[in-house]
Amino acid sequence: MARSDLPGGRPPVTSRKGKVAVVGAGFYGSTTAQRLAEYDIFEEVVLTDIRDGWAEGLALDLNQSRPVEGFETKVTGQTTGPNGEGYEALAGASIVVITAGLPRKPGMSRMDLIEVNAKIVRQVAENVAKHAPEAVLIVVSNPLDEMTALAAKVSQFPSSRVLGQAGMLDTARFSYFVATKLGVPVGSVRTLTLGSHGDTMVPVPSACTVDGKPLDSLLPADEIEALVTRTRNGGGEVVALLKTGSAYYAPSAAAARMARAVAEDSGAVMPVCAWVDGEYGISGVYLGVEAEIGASGVRRVVERDLTDSEVAGLRAAAEAVRAKQADVAAL
Ligand code: 2OP
Repeated sequence: MARSDLPGGRPPVTSRKGKVAVVGAGFYGSTTAQRLAEYDIFEEVVLTDIRDGWAEGLALDLNQSRPVEGFETKVTGQTTGPNGEGYEALAGASIVVITAGLPRKPGMSRMDLIEVNAKIVRQVAENVAKHAPEAVLIVVSNPLDEMTALAAKVSQFPSSRVLGQAGMLDTARFSYFVATKLGVPVGSVRTLTLGSHGDTMVPVPSACTVDGKPLDSLLPADEIEALVTRTRNGGGEVVALLKTGSAYYAPSAAAARMARAVAEDSGAVMPVCAWVDGEYGISGVYLGVEAEIGASGVRRVVERDLTDSEVAGLRAAAEAVRAKQADVAAL
């Protein structure tokens, strides 16, 4: 008899637990919520937005996909108001992904968003801290490093419980470009980017391999440099094509993986924006580094052997971010 593809009828998963919230239901937030729900490891995914009914509508739509996709995680939508109304829906969340803020338009740098997004992230972080005081915060709003620092400052959470998503995305972009250039599966490529999510992003060619072979044994330096440049401009390339927004499929994949590592207390080592306190001779700044991720957020920053020029790039990124992080605290 032919197999039926009608919705429903999958065996239940029994290990679902906890609540994860996504603040901001633009494309980035809603695709993050979708990925988290489809993992089918959470009891509940809460999605919020300031547009009246928008998050509720998306949640209803996502819940209606459950019989087809076969996941039982409940999705709850919640409209939030300017004075913190609706944030009580976050109560009990162990992870909150902050996507609130404006995306770039063509020709804008992430830094052009700093003033407007600082106001939004400040208000969100205050409300999140009030209603989900034990949560791990994963910030994705831009400019990323500065908004992560601001969320940490406003929430007054321990720095290890606030991290930002950028390195997973930039690394994924770099890997994709390398795989495409060499005509190999993306799964055979390992790359790494550190530093900021911006002009001082530091791709790390010394950590890049294809099927275990060093990248620099497969491509000449100028071609690697071209891929590095394309990676650095990876978000802008998508913005220029979309014209009315920024990327969200790869960004949401990256953010959801981070949330999953927290939920599963996996100890996965990922490039993330984390508080750096002495590693690589850098202190007192949120910066893209590799970190071990678990239920408490960043368990530890993982230092690796970098070339002198890579360390110099990381230190330059740290100083650029430090200067802006100081500005942002006053916004
Ligand atoms: C990007 O690089 C949204 O910052 C994000 O596409």
